[in-house]
Order: sequence, then structure tokens, then C-alpha cells
Amino acid sequence: MKAYFNGKFISEDKVFISPFDRGFQFADGAYEVVRLYSGKLFKLDDHFERLERSLKELKIKVPDLKEIRKAVYQLINDNNLTDAHALAYIQVTRGMFLPRQHWFPPNHIQPTVYISTSLFTPHNKEIENGVKVLLENDIRWSRCDIKSIALLPNVLGRQKAIESNAYETIWVRNDFIMEGTHTNFCGIKNGKLITPPLSNFILAGITRKVVVQICDSLGIPVYEEPIKKQDVEIFDECMIVGTTVDVTPIIQINDWKVGDGIPGPFTREIQNEFFKLVMSDE
Ligand SMILES: Cc1ncc(COP(=O)(O)O)c(C=O)c1O
Repeated sequence: MKAYFNGKFISEDKVFISPFDRGFQFADGAYEVVRLYSGKLFKLDDHFERLERSLKELKIKVPDLKEIRKAVYQLINDNNLTDAHALAYIQVTRGMFLPRQHWFPPNHIQPTVYISTSLFTPHNKEIENGVKVLLENDIRWSRCDIKSIALLPNVLGRQKAIESNAYETIWVRNDFIMEGTHTNFCGIKNGKLITPPLSNFILAGITRKVVVQICDSLGIPVYEEPIKKQDVEIFDECMIVGTTVDVTPIIQINDWKVGDGIPGPFTREIQNEFFKLVMSDE
């Protein structure tokens, strides 16, 4: 497939990043992953808004976002993804500078911009049957609201889940549920949706926002409030939501079976609305 790299469209195996790029040296950058449903980009504006915010919070020069947007569309065309289930990956780093130094390089350094696309197989089995998740102490930094490319804790958390025959790890900080390694967490109790409030400890997920809107439209009350780890067993239903997992039911948390151990009716209703929306939204 073709990729976009600093203004050029080139074969992705011809993209080479300098060892002096600050993304390589310090994970000094931000990224977005955007979903294509049958070739249609979902919530692209929200992803660009969040990318801009992440870059500003990191004090990285914001590249021309209109050009990046155009490049995303061009890659979809050039890579024949106009009808495909796929992902677009956008990464911006602070740029390349020699010698290695922690503090910011001079102002004239240009950010490195990389965009790629790939085919994506929706996780239908998990969406249908539900998944097991683990609860683990949150080992991440305190700016999880920034979609930074520094993902090592998330890598370790996800690996632990996989090694434990689970699908996702949900981070717990000071006894409170935060979010997953690549997902947000929601629970249903007595017909109400409860999800942890936005803070510097969780990412403002775009799927989370869509799910909140869906609940509003369905008349399901939404409470954005802290969830204590010990209280997780009050939930009738739980789910993880995110760009790559859509709305995926949780049927087990550690050794505790959620509800009847099968996806519940509220989760199903939200899923149905979600999939209607992704096919209709531009
Ligand atoms: C830590 C974290 N939380 C939540 C999410 C879900 O966000 P979104 O719905 O925007 O994909 C992600 C997505 O990758 C994530 O990395």
C-alpha cells in the first residue's frame, strides 16, 4: 500500500524514519486511528480535533491539517479502499534533530508526518459473544488525555490480557476504574449507563462520545461518574467501546461473570444503533 510521508506519497515499505527522529528517540509525538466502514471515514472531524489538541498539549508545531486530511482521502483512493473496512493511521512527531537532547529542538524543525492505511477485519466474534477483561493497576503517566505515541504501558497491559486468555486490560487507579489499554469502559445498572468522567487519566474516546449520544437518543440515562473497583460487581452489563472494538460486551471481569455471562439487552440495543450510525454517518 501507499503511505504519506512528509508531503510525499510513497510505497509504505519505502518509508524510512531517521534514528534522530524524536518519535524514535523519545516517543515524542501523537497519533490517531480512524475507522473506515465500507470505505466511509467515521467521525474524521473529531479525530482531527483530538489530534490538534494532543499536539498543542505537547507543544508540537501543528502541521497543515487540511493537507493531512486531503492525504487521507487520497490514500483511500490510491489504495483502493473506497468500499473497504479499513483503518487510517496518522502520526505526527516533533521532528528530527541531532544531537539527541531532551529539551525541544529549535523552532525551524518541521514535524514528521506519517499516514498509512490498512485493511481491517471487524472483531465480529467478540462483538457478538462478548469478551473477558482483566483489572490491573494503572501504570501509565498522568496525561492519558493526550493520544501520545508513548504506549509501552498499554503494550504491557494488552499483552498481559492476551497471556491470560482475556481480550483487554482495564486500568484501575487509586481503586477507581479508568479505561482500557485501547478502549473506554461503560457499565449498565438498572437501565442507566455509567462511565468514568473525563479527566487527565483517560482519553476522551470518540466512540465513548458516540455511545453517550446514542444513549441520549434512546432515552437511556447517562451518568459520567467515578466507578470504584469494588463496585464493578453491581453492574448488570458492561462493555468496552473504541475505534477498533466498536461496542464490545464484557462478559467476564477477572473471575467475576458479568450478569448471566452473555451480552445483555442494553448492550445489544446500543450496538444496533451504533452500527446503524456508522453506515449512515459521513
Ligand atoms: C487509552 C485509550 N482509551 C480509549 C480509546 C478509545 O478511543 P476512540 O473511541 O477514540 O478510539 C483509545 C483508542 O485507541 C485508547 O487508546
